[in-house]
Amino acid sequence: MLLSKFVNFLINTKPLYAVMKVLAKRALKSSAEERGVSWDGHAKRLMSDAELKQIKDEMENKSMVYPSYYLQPFHAYDEGNLNWLAACEVEPATYAMAIRTFKSETDLTPMEAQAKLRKNITSAIKDYFATHSLQSPTNIVDVGCSTGISTRWLVNEFPGAKVTATDLSPHFLAVAELEERRHEREGGTRRVHYMHDKAENSVLETSSVDLMSFQFVMHECPGDAITNLVKESARVVRPGGVLCIVDNNPQSKTIQNLPPALFTLMKSTEPWSDEYYAYDIEQCLRDLGFTEVVTVCTDHRHRAILGIRAQ
Ligand SMILES: C[S@@+](CC[C@H](N)C(=O)[O-])C[C@H]1O[C@@H](n2cnc3c(N)ncnc32)[C@H](O)[C@@H]1O
Repeated sequence: MLLSKFVNFLINTKPLYAVMKVLAKRALKSSAEERGVSWDGHAKRLMSDAELKQIKDEMENKSMVYPSYYLQPFHAYDEGNLNWLAACEVEPATYAMAIRTFKSETDLTPMEAQAKLRKNITSAIKDYFATHSLQSPTNIVDVGCSTGISTRWLVNEFPGAKVTATDLSPHFLAVAELEERRHEREGGTRRVHYMHDKAENSVLETSSVDLMSFQFVMHECPGDAITNLVKESARVVRPGGVLCIVDNNPQSKTIQNLPPALFTLMKSTEPWSDEYYAYDIEQCLRDLGFTEVVTVCTDHRHRAILGIRAQ
């Protein structure tokens, strides 16, 4: 707690924060590049793709009102998730996260590390459905889908299900949709319907979803926003349907014992992490109409919280 307060002081000291965010990004980037991720190559390729801007224009809800917590600098980008560089670098950053999670397994490629992380998540979901004798979901929503890595994994693991994916960043969604159009141009059938949508006030229909999945969204939100996201999920998930929230595990010894320097760098790019770590999401689910609430460790850093919408 003391360390956290000290870090807040550093972050609120503008010249120090400017240095910290550069160091934080450099650390993430080098952990990806050391394991063969072409960070700059990937970002440059996307940044120069003219179709991307056109797709954003098509998908963006121009009257979207963004919550103030979303308009903060995130992940060392001053405009948070609402900019092209963040959108074009998010995939290498997501691979860096997977590599860091399985740091000691140096034989894993970035792709294998990502697959392992996601497979653990979908296994937890499938086990939960099996334990509670629930039918496999046919209508899935991936909320906060970013550029679609979590979404495409859900598509692979639940073949035949209708998958919708939503995000508040039209830049991220444009990257996700670009990949979907590339897949279609190569003869594939459309796998995902992407939508520019605000999770706390969604256009999704009431009681329309069998499985609603939030992967690595909540740590980007303050406590009152987390409450609102769960409340809106209780509206959208059908009675008997499942809400799954995957994110950093506050009980993780790995996270609790992070070296102070690394903790400081991580925290400097995540404005709401203190509130996330202090928030009782399990209780929030129970309070807002979910039953059979359980928490599963999907690996040594992350957890999945699952609950069934009461009938
Ligand atoms: C760390 S990314 C997670 C990406 C992806 N689910 C994954 O597992 O790789 C968090 C995403 O949540 C989105 N997000 C945050 N708050 C949101 C909100 N209120 N409504 C919709 N999306 C939101 C952000 O734009 C960002 O793309």
